[in-house]
Amino acid sequence: MATPCTLNRYLLLMAQEHLEFRMPEIKSLLSLFGGQFASTQETYGKSPFWILSIPSEDIARNLMKRTVCAKAIFELWGHGQSPEELYSSLKNYPVEKMVPFLHSNSTYKIKIHTFNKTLTQEEKIKRIDALEFLPFEGKVNLKKPQHVFSVLEDYGLDPNCIPENPHNIYFGRWIADGQRELIESYSVKKRHFIGNTSMDAGLSFIMANHGKVKENDIVFDPFVGTGGLLIASAHFGAYVYGTDIDYNTVHGLGKASRKNQKWRGPDENIRANLRQYGLEKYYLDVLVSDASKPSWRKGTYFDAIITDPPYGIRESTRRTGSQKEIPKGIEKCPESHVPVSLSYHLSDMFLDLLNFAAETLVLGGRLVYWLPVYTPEYTEEMVPQHPCLKLISNCEQKLSSHTSRRLITMEKVKKFENQDQHSHLLSDHFLPYQGHNSFREKYFSGVTKRIAKEEKSSQE
Ligand SMILES: C[S@@+](CC[C@H](N)C(=O)[O-])C[C@H]1O[C@@H](n2cnc3c(N)ncnc32)[C@H](O)[C@@H]1O
Repeated sequence: MATPCTLNRYLLLMAQEHLEFRMPEIKSLLSLFGGQFASTQETYGKSPFWILSIPSEDIARNLMKRTVCAKAIFELWGHGQSPEELYSSLKNYPVEKMVPFLHSNSTYKIKIHTFNKTLTQEEKIKRIDALEFLPFEGKVNLKKPQHVFSVLEDYGLDPNCIPENPHNIYFGRWIADGQRELIESYSVKKRHFIGNTSMDAGLSFIMANHGKVKENDIVFDPFVGTGGLLIASAHFGAYVYGTDIDYNTVHGLGKASRKNQKWRGPDENIRANLRQYGLEKYYLDVLVSDASKPSWRKGTYFDAIITDPPYGIRESTRRTGSQKEIPKGIEKCPESHVPVSLSYHLSDMFLDLLNFAAETLVLGGRLVYWLPVYTPEYTEEMVPQHPCLKLISNCEQKLSSHTSRRLITMEKVKKFENQDQHSHLLSDHFLPYQGHNSFREKYFSGVTKRIAKEEKSSQE
């Protein structure tokens, strides 16, 4: 019989941004590396302090090499709702677990971190002095300590009602910081090749984490645009591939998206973007291709499909057509004509995407994509389903008072069989989900014309 492993408690300090995306990110990464939440604390939703149970410090470090939603992780030595409770919890923490970090040859520093309150230097020193009962034997070194300890005080979430005393106080040994700095170093503002809809760096990394992208994976984006999502996956060591219907985007030609530049320069393309970040070796290729007519042979190729399909707001939703598909009454082109472009209904696009993912993902592989919704009419039933794909998470990002987009993560749980292709026709979900077709009209109808106008002009 396997011996149950002992779990240690760790404190995660979360960033207060993209709140809904944090839990699925941490859960996805924990399922990659191991570990679980320590309790079902309801405050996880909004609080910046989360307690995790993790079997080893290595796992905690791996988690922090990936997360952009968490700022730092600490080995939790004590926790209480008052200083007295914290001190008694610290006195119960096994001394043998403390000693390796407190011995006489070591150097250390204690930091005070507060959430929703600022303390004076004097108050901070008081808190540090109160910890003198801990068996610190090393020397204090403020510049380059070997070990950093933190007292973290939580004064709740309401900036208009800051309590005198903290709701919770934690003490822990700092282990590692998360990857928040990637948001700045990969910022679209400093990127070589960008477009009107280039995905924000922070969200791209969150998507790659929801997709459980790992080293040597093959990641595909069928609506690749300027490749923002490929960059995040390549940063985590995956080989990346993309397609887009737009010739100019794929070849880095045409009008530039930057204000002070008219045309794209000679080397403005996805490959050059990857080169900018030292990731060129992960570039497989990008092709001009229509996602409604994938040109792949039957088979499973991808570990993850991570994508941001067009919503028809800043780019059109088009697909290639053929003579047969042109509606009656519209004059047909000569036989030799290259396929025409037809409008691509959003509901068809998501059906195609789910079918494609169900067919081409490896078992356990993930599909991560954005679904635009008109919020007054949104219900969970609208989220497209597929018998081969299990819904893992569904997180909202508000775009305006009446529209939002939802980040949908699905995992392939069943091998694709031919009959699965038409499963949507039998599903109760098919009808409500067709409502997405009119997303564009609803987007611009606005609650008031003024809001719609403002949003339109801010995107141009
Ligand atoms: C929201 S943008 C993707 C932006 C991308 N994530 C980035 O970071 O630049 C959607 C892309 O889908 C492309 N597209 C539209 N219809 C398509 C189709 N039928 N097949 C493939 N690509 C399509 C558009 O040309 C556009 O580049």
